[in-house]
Amino acid sequence: MNKSELLERVQPIDGWLSDSEAWLLFNLARNCPPNHVIVEIGSYKGKPTTCLALGSRCGAKVAVYAIDPHTGSPEHIEKHGKVDTFHIFESNVLKAGIAEFVRPVLKFSQDATVEVKEPIGLLFIDGAHEHEAVTKDFRLWFPKLAQNGVIAFHDAIWWKGVTKAVSESIVSSTSQPTPFSKGCPKPWIGIAIICEMIL
Ligand SMILES: C[S@@+](CC[C@H](N)C(=O)[O-])C[C@H]1O[C@@H](n2cnc3c(N)ncnc32)[C@H](O)[C@@H]1O
Repeated sequence: MNKSELLERVQPIDGWLSDSEAWLLFNLARNCPPNHVIVEIGSYKGKPTTCLALGSRCGAKVAVYAIDPHTGSPEHIEKHGKVDTFHIFESNVLKAGIAEFVRPVLKFSQDATVEVKEPIGLLFIDGAHEHEAVTKDFRLWFPKLAQNGVIAFHDAIWWKGVTKAVSESIVSSTSQPTPFSKGCPKPWIGIAIICEMIL
């Protein structure tokens, strides 16, 4: 699948990913190694989920956990009132023919860690955007990242809370031993900071 083919599939889906970000997520997912999984925090209507699952399908065909309570972020609720994105998410996943790879988890990220038992090869964080929330997502999910895993944060450059959390997370991770790291700070590929302003 080339970039134009991917974009033809995902451009009609409502969401915040730019074309370059969609292509980047697709390629990160395509490179996820076998016997690992991909975890996405904040699926909304399934645009990034579709990029990740199509990438996985062209690669090692690993599962994509799509974690979102589908009740919206505070900024969405403020603007639109009650939010329910699950039915449109589900319909977009079915339309894209990727249902076999996608495992929807209708929970907040902090309640969903027990659902993922496999080592994570790629973690995409785009749930709540407040500093505390992003930091919490990193702290809870980083220990589940495989050696040489990849973390991608959305809105990492211009969303203040996310930017601060991302820079702090990089520093803290260099001294944080985890279950997969055998007592040493874990090497990880680093961060794919994805933000349309730099792509
Ligand atoms: C900015 S939108 C994500 C957009 C999506 N990644 C895209 O590009 O189309 C944020 C999403 O995160 C979800 N969300 C908010 N807090 C969350 C949390 N703690 N855990 C998981 N999802 C969360 C919301 O329901 C919303 O769908």
